[in-house]
Amino acid sequence: MDLTYTKEVLKHLKSPKNMGKIKNPDGEGMVGNRVCGDIMKMYLKIIKNEKGEEIISDIKFQTLGCGAAIATSSVLTTLAKGKTIKEALKISKDDIIQALGGLPAIKVHCSILADEALKKAVENYCSTLKQH
Ligand code: FES
Repeated sequence: MDLTYTKEVLKHLKSPKNMGKIKNPDGEGMVGNRVCGDIMKMYLKIIKNEKGEEIISDIKFQTLGCGAAIATSSVLTTLAKGKTIKEALKISKDDIIQALGGLPAIKVHCSILADEALKKAVENYCSTLKQH
């Protein structure tokens, strides 16, 4: 079993990008994994561009969990920032793993958690829109 983290994982682990909270977010989503107990929360700020597309202008995360959970959350925020909501929803766990240069097999579920947190935050944004 390969237990090595790639350089990219270690980079995000040492200095995570977009870690923290957004005050009054337009969307937020929290997910957890019952088996390992890790918890992740994503916050979104959404603006509309001149074409009327909804853009993720800011994204932050809070993760209580393993190193890979922090690295996957961090790299995901860099992939999603500046993207339209539609584009962000297309980001998959494989995109996250690829952006990190790979993940040990036993840590693949950490990338799934990050992916689910983003999707939940977008769902939350969409559901609050419907209420107005
Ligand atoms: S060990 Fe569960 S998210 Fe990393």
